[in-house]
Amino acid sequence: MNDRLAGIKQEILNGIDQLAASRAAAFELRKQFLDSKTGKIGQLMKEMKNIAPEERAAFGKNINELKDWAQQKFSELDEKLKARELERRYESEKIDVTMPARETETGNLHPVTQIRNQLMDIFVGMGFEVAETREIENDYYNFEALNIPKDHPARDMQDTFYLSPEYLLATQTSGAQIHTMEKKKPPIKIVAAPGKVFRSDDDATHSPMFHQMEGLVVDERITMCDLKGMLELFAKKIFGEDTTTRLRPSYFPFTEPSVEVDVSCFSCGGKGCRLCKGTGWIELLGAGIVNRRVLENCGIDSEKYSGLAFGIGLDRAAMLKYGINNVKLLFESDLRVLRQINDN
Ligand code: DAH
Repeated sequence: MNDRLAGIKQEILNGIDQLAASRAAAFELRKQFLDSKTGKIGQLMKEMKNIAPEERAAFGKNINELKDWAQQKFSELDEKLKARELERRYESEKIDVTMPARETETGNLHPVTQIRNQLMDIFVGMGFEVAETREIENDYYNFEALNIPKDHPARDMQDTFYLSPEYLLATQTSGAQIHTMEKKKPPIKIVAAPGKVFRSDDDATHSPMFHQMEGLVVDERITMCDLKGMLELFAKKIFGEDTTTRLRPSYFPFTEPSVEVDVSCFSCGGKGCRLCKGTGWIELLGAGIVNRRVLENCGIDSEKYSGLAFGIGLDRAAMLKYGINNVKLLFESDLRVLRQINDN
């Protein structure tokens, strides 16, 4: 019987020797000997009944010793394999800190988004709240309430995409003025974005979809001076301290009087260059004193309150500021172009 025990011992040692160095294989091997039901050592216990009574105690002791020995062996083996596995993992995860880094591509904001963020920052800094514009308007908000009746020639200024006789793609952000004044009573001081607008227009400086930002201030005694002062401050902030503005008379149905605002050319400083077509001035936005009719359409007392409004073309502002000569470049997402413009 002792031979059998020695045989099992040898079997275990041989098994360990030949073992592929994996913990799973070691576990299987351990099971062959130590599994409580099927293990070879456990099986020996069942033979107890065949042993002469006087030898049983010694037999049991021997089996228990073998069991302890085997358990010890297997746990040593497991420790060893564990350590080897860890070593192998460290080896495979080793990082060579001297290797050149892989370049990671980072994006930056679209030039129009950059301009929009800058404008928002400036106006929020002046105490404006931010409202949202809509991409789909109905005739009332886009035209009628802004004092552009159906037969008004000003409708021809804006080639409209109609979705139905009633609904259309917003041709301007000015509808935000009406939405605001319907919800809020003076004092009002808002800029509205993101400002996607649509017109059937397509050439080097016009695209059928472009962006505007609308501004509206309504309070007691708002005058052209407020408008001029505010825009002057704004122009300096966005194009530089040396920038000045000039107002030219213009016409918009929703403002009276209306102006077009030029800024001194920030490329040549006013001397005349290609950017300003030799005039020294660059046209930047439309603005004016809110037409009384528009206030009244929104239930605001035009005897007590007056307002100023302005609308800025963001794509145009981005093209001017970053020297982009074709509006298509803003839509192509060519990284060679976009990478050059990181201004935020
Ligand atoms: N909505 C005008 C346009 O799209 C721009 C504009 C002009 C907006 C004068 C205004 C304004 O608020 O007062 O051409």
